[in-house]
Amino acid sequence: MVGRGGSGYGLSVMAGRRWSWAAEVGRYSTTGAVAGIVFSVFRSAILKPEKTKAVFLSGKKERKNESAAMKTIVLANQKGGVGKTTLTAHIAVAAERAGDGACVLIDTDPQASLSGWWNGREAETPAFAPVSLKELPGKLEALGQAGYTYAFIDTPPAITESIRAVVSQADFVLIPIRPSPHDLRAVGSTVELALTADRPFAFAVTQAKPNSRLTVQAMAALSEHGVVAPAIVHDRVDYAASMIDGRTVLEIDPKGRSAAEVAELWLFVKARMNDSKKARKKAGTKYA
Ligand SMILES: Nc1ncnc2c1ncn2[C@@H]1O[C@H](COP(=O)(O)OP(=O)(O)O)[C@@H](O)[C@H]1O
Ligand SMILES: [Mg+2]
Repeated sequence: MVGRGGSGYGLSVMAGRRWSWAAEVGRYSTTGAVAGIVFSVFRSAILKPEKTKAVFLSGKKERKNESAAMKTIVLANQKGGVGKTTLTAHIAVAAERAGDGACVLIDTDPQASLSGWWNGREAETPAFAPVSLKELPGKLEALGQAGYTYAFIDTPPAITESIRAVVSQADFVLIPIRPSPHDLRAVGSTVELALTADRPFAFAVTQAKPNSRLTVQAMAALSEHGVVAPAIVHDRVDYAASMIDGRTVLEIDPKGRSAAEVAELWLFVKARMNDSKKARKKAGTKYA
């Protein structure tokens, strides 16, 4: 049913940790981080990873087993550059580090940034499932059957029928948003997407400048349209630098401020998802 490695899904990973001066330099300076990213892009263009550890599933549709129900979290925002990919990777790692079970990542963005990050990752977890949009519902069911607790799905920066289809599979939609007027103006269509699909959602403010009035104002404005995660993800170079070699801030500095805010964000998402489920049951409706 579920296996590791092999061919068939076109997904692959690097077998081991490679030379990572870039990440080391990136920890200390912005210039270093930029140099590191440039180096990393060249590195992945030159070095073709081998296929080793992607999770893959048989095409067989599995029987739904409610007791093994996996929760699916979709990160969506029509705007690019808001932190969807960064947060997808980070909260999946945070969920596993919090002991919340086995997590699996799914990348529905043709730009494949999440896949690229995972390909450069040395750690075996979170797992990665190469899944086409057509197969998504059946594969999510199969992943639940296989024992995964949470699936985290990254999406492209657009509003298309395929994104609607992905959002319709969500138990929870997390909308990363930067506290800027442009981002606030553009978020309406993403909110509408979650509302139309009747899925619970929340905003996660990302790339916030420390002590900025704009962040407070943005959170106030957003709260009129939906729940806002109290955990603010700040603008720090370690978010980008940590991802150069397939890691996250939780791994490069587990006691740092960035790690703490990501862990807090995951706790919020988990609690909110459970609250929505309870409210739904009480009201006898699909989604609260
Ligand atoms: N909290 C953050 N602090 C600093 N840089 C960030 C943060 N979150 C994301 N970034 C950077 O911003 C850019 C866009 O982030 P990304 O996750 O790729 O957004 P999206 O997937 O929405 O397009 C990337 O270069 C990423 O490294
Ligand atoms: Mg992305």
